[in-house]
Amino acid sequence: MKPDIDIIGASDVMERLRQFALQVAETDITVLITGETGSGKEVLARFIHKHSRRAEKSFIPVNCGAIPTGILESELFGHEKGAFTGAVQGRKGYFETADRGSIFLDEIGEMSLETQVKFLRVIENGEFQRVGASSTIYSDTRIIAATNKNLMQAVADRNFREDLYYRLRSVELQIPPLRERGRDILLLIEHFVLEFQQKHTIPFEGFTPDATEMLLRYPWPGNVRELRNLVESLLVLEKGQEITSGILDKHLVQRSRFKSLVHDPVRSEKNELQLLYSSLIQLRQEVSDIRHMVQQLAEAGQQPQPAKFLLPDPSQRPVPPSIAEPDPAPAAAPPSLDDAEKKTIMEAINSCGGNKKKAAAALGTTERTLYRKIKRYGL
Ligand SMILES: Nc1ncnc2c1ncn2[C@@H]1O[C@H](COP(=O)(O)OP(=O)(O)O)[C@@H](O)[C@H]1O
Ligand SMILES: [Mg+2]
Repeated sequence: MKPDIDIIGASDVMERLRQFALQVAETDITVLITGETGSGKEVLARFIHKHSRRAEKSFIPVNCGAIPTGILESELFGHEKGAFTGAVQGRKGYFETADRGSIFLDEIGEMSLETQVKFLRVIENGEFQRVGASSTIYSDTRIIAATNKNLMQAVADRNFREDLYYRLRSVELQIPPLRERGRDILLLIEHFVLEFQQKHTIPFEGFTPDATEMLLRYPWPGNVRELRNLVESLLVLEKGQEITSGILDKHLVQRSRFKSLVHDPVRSEKNELQLLYSSLIQLRQEVSDIRHMVQQLAEAGQQPQPAKFLLPDPSQRPVPPSIAEPDPAPAAAPPSLDDAEKKTIMEAINSCGGNKKKAAAALGTTERTLYRKIKRYGL
């Protein structure tokens, strides 16, 4: 059978990795794949499976980081009827269903210490027990684990068992980050362009030479996954145009801004967008609130005070009472920011005849924020 999975890449590092992977694929050795997020750990695991004698059997990917601890054990090893509340019938776990196939344990560094003990036993002799069972089951499953974490550090922090770490590390395949693969970047782009051209039926006019240079210099923090997403955005959003460095720069800048707001790789893209929008809305709201406070103070002839969240100027720090100089003659106390804001809100509501929607618009804020403030000040 011709494997339908390939690892795109002709650089020396990727060539060596491919050869090594083909060598281990022939055996049943447990393999640990390490590499940054998006570098292709799952692609490599599938490649090993497809080139092994297990190719016709199942390949089961399990994300240990995404499944809560208690559930992970019953997912992996199965459970007996009545093993826990809700276990109305017994169920096979992945090690049983993947029998004679391969199991891919992604984010292995997230596995709890308790589950690690049971997992080590499966690696050593293929034995395990369903949750709530006393009999032992044997499974002939090839194990491929992956991590983007420094497992040695996890061992030092006592979050990962040392014996399991050495057991896993005996055959380690390290995937280099995309930025170290030279012109493989261009091969991958070609591959993804074809994929998305077929999917969206959009023509693609290629990149100008300076855009190509930019692609080769960019550090690709999200590796191949980032590159693939970029190619799809370019095809869909810049329909049929030749991609110049200016267009590319715009897309790459947007991506890095986006990343600085959201950096949890487990989040789906949809959630990331929602998070981005809500951060922007919140930011806009805060800016508008501050602008109004400052405006109000300026109208009242006051200098704006530093906002509460700023560190006070050390020279302005209150002197401890015991050594404090006597207060100078009391000047008229300036209104607090809260008082000023409260007054503005009341005035706006009055001048709009009590209509909160109009008052909010007059204040340059949203109705929701206005209600929040009305509640806060008990107006
Ligand atoms: N060498 C490669 N050739 C083709 N596609 C790749 C390659 N490496 C990664 N990809 C693609 O990039 C994305 C991320 O790969 P994945 O294996 O899920 O990364 P990881 O598991 O390291 O986070 C997937 O869409 C995958 O198909
Ligand atoms: Mg992955």
